[in-house]
Amino acid sequence: MTIIAPSLLSADFTQITQELALFEDQDNIWIHLDVMDGHFVPNLTFGATVLKNIHKFTKHPLDAHFMVTDPQNYIEPFKNIGLHNFTFHYEAVENPFSFIQEVQKNFPSAGITIKPKTPVEVLTDEILSIVDLVLIMSVEPGFGGQSYIQGSEEKINWLKNKRSELKATFKIQVDGGINKDTASLSLTNGADILVAGSYIFKSDNYKKAVESLR
Ligand code: DX5
Ligand code: ZN
Repeated sequence: MTIIAPSLLSADFTQITQELALFEDQDNIWIHLDVMDGHFVPNLTFGATVLKNIHKFTKHPLDAHFMVTDPQNYIEPFKNIGLHNFTFHYEAVENPFSFIQEVQKNFPSAGITIKPKTPVEVLTDEILSIVDLVLIMSVEPGFGGQSYIQGSEEKINWLKNKRSELKATFKIQVDGGINKDTASLSLTNGADILVAGSYIFKSDNYKKAVESLR
């Protein structure tokens, strides 16, 4: 079953408990949290202080996407606030392989992501053999509401083939400009998890929007 990960970037944070409640009766949902530092990307969102109690208001796994310059500084403050997955940018670390191991010591799941201009081939067999999740960014990270960059599905397809070749187990996730059409394109090419922000939160029925993506 496809997992849909609503991105709270497009939610109304003044009503966040009500927003989260709208997904409570659905299955195969992850809650996607975009942590931005105003440096790696030109936008700033929330940190551990704001997200600290959010797990109390949802039964779904929390999926954090760190768009930050120094992801190593985020392990300590985020490790005890109930996150399921910790995804960092390949572009932000010196040694992605050892950083994945560091993340895995502190979180149930470690993800790695690449920006649209980074070739998927930078993800070595060594990395793909241990990582729990690979996120393909289908927009430049930083903002919700952008259009899907055509061709991102080729990276998804490459990962799917690599995964069978390596007999690896990582999940393939896509993030940015996901709507009905780009969801279907991503799923055909092998995506397991679709992140969607504006498509869900700008709709008048979140549940129907989620179902339409599957
Ligand atoms: C962008 C974020 C996304 C964003 C997606 O940097 O990583 O998670 O919320 O928003 P939409 O679905 O509106 O493109
Ligand atoms: Zn994201």
